[in-house]
Amino acid sequence: MGSDGRLAPADTLIKPYQSSRHSRTNRELGGDEARRVPSPALVRRVPVASPGVELAEAVRRRRMVRGFSGAAPAPEVLESLLDLARRAPSAGNSQGWDAVVLKGAEQTNPFWEATTTAQWRAHSARWPGLRRAPVVVAFFSHPGAYTARYREPDKASSGLGAGHDAWPVPYWDTDAAMAVMILLLGAVDAGLGACFLGNFRGEEQLRTAIGVPADRRYLGAVLLGEGGGADPPSISSSRPRRSSSEVFHRGGW
Ligand SMILES: Cc1cc2nc3c(=O)[nH]c(=O)nc-3n(C[C@H](O)[C@H](O)[C@H](O)COP(=O)(O)O)c2cc1C
Repeated sequence: MGSDGRLAPADTLIKPYQSSRHSRTNRELGGDEARRVPSPALVRRVPVASPGVELAEAVRRRRMVRGFSGAAPAPEVLESLLDLARRAPSAGNSQGWDAVVLKGAEQTNPFWEATTTAQWRAHSARWPGLRRAPVVVAFFSHPGAYTARYREPDKASSGLGAGHDAWPVPYWDTDAAMAVMILLLGAVDAGLGACFLGNFRGEEQLRTAIGVPADRRYLGAVLLGEGGGADPPSISSSRPRRSSSEVFHRGGW
């Protein structure tokens, strides 16, 4: 649907569930499910970077990859993943996050120098595999974009324009994290390895090294590239996944 409420031209539309990655047609889906499938005329064309996998499969298959071969993703694949991340939902559609894309050792070295210590690099079994990540996408949230957005007339009654302390939840970080998740799943879809590294040290050094404005907060970074080489398992990822009945409190806690 165009911004004026009319349907987009036919050449910008796809028929859902009829490509190789969406093999089910409306007719194959029975009952309620068939009714939930949007009319082909209402679905916009989505750029596809790769043969792709189904979403549920991508979610199940995703694991943090901490060993990279060093081979860089094709530029068009990287751009397509970044474009997907840009489509993340955000509170009030504030879109208050930015990401710095670092490619190749010359650009990624300052990232590692800021966020890790020489001692860790000398002793970590994971360092050799991590350092070969050909792309590092460092995410920054912008709290000021949210307070400004929530001072606009349609949001002003929320009181959230008053300042960051008025926010029960820092949605600037949440929204950046949603974009991170798209990138992680997109990497699976594109056949790439990816790992999110949290912000545990070096924010100021990183900010200075890559020229980030002072009002942005460093969330963490996604490493992207072809998986390969040693990838020693992390202690964290060996922890068992909590069961559905532990996580979901149906009908009340
Ligand atoms: C907010 C956040 C911060 C994380 N920081 C790191 C990190 O600094 N280093 C690391 O190796 N993994 C990091 N991880 C990855 C987690 O260890 C990993 O997601 C968890 O062990 C589950 O494993 P899986 O993602 O492979 O399923 C982080 C994950 C999240 C969500």
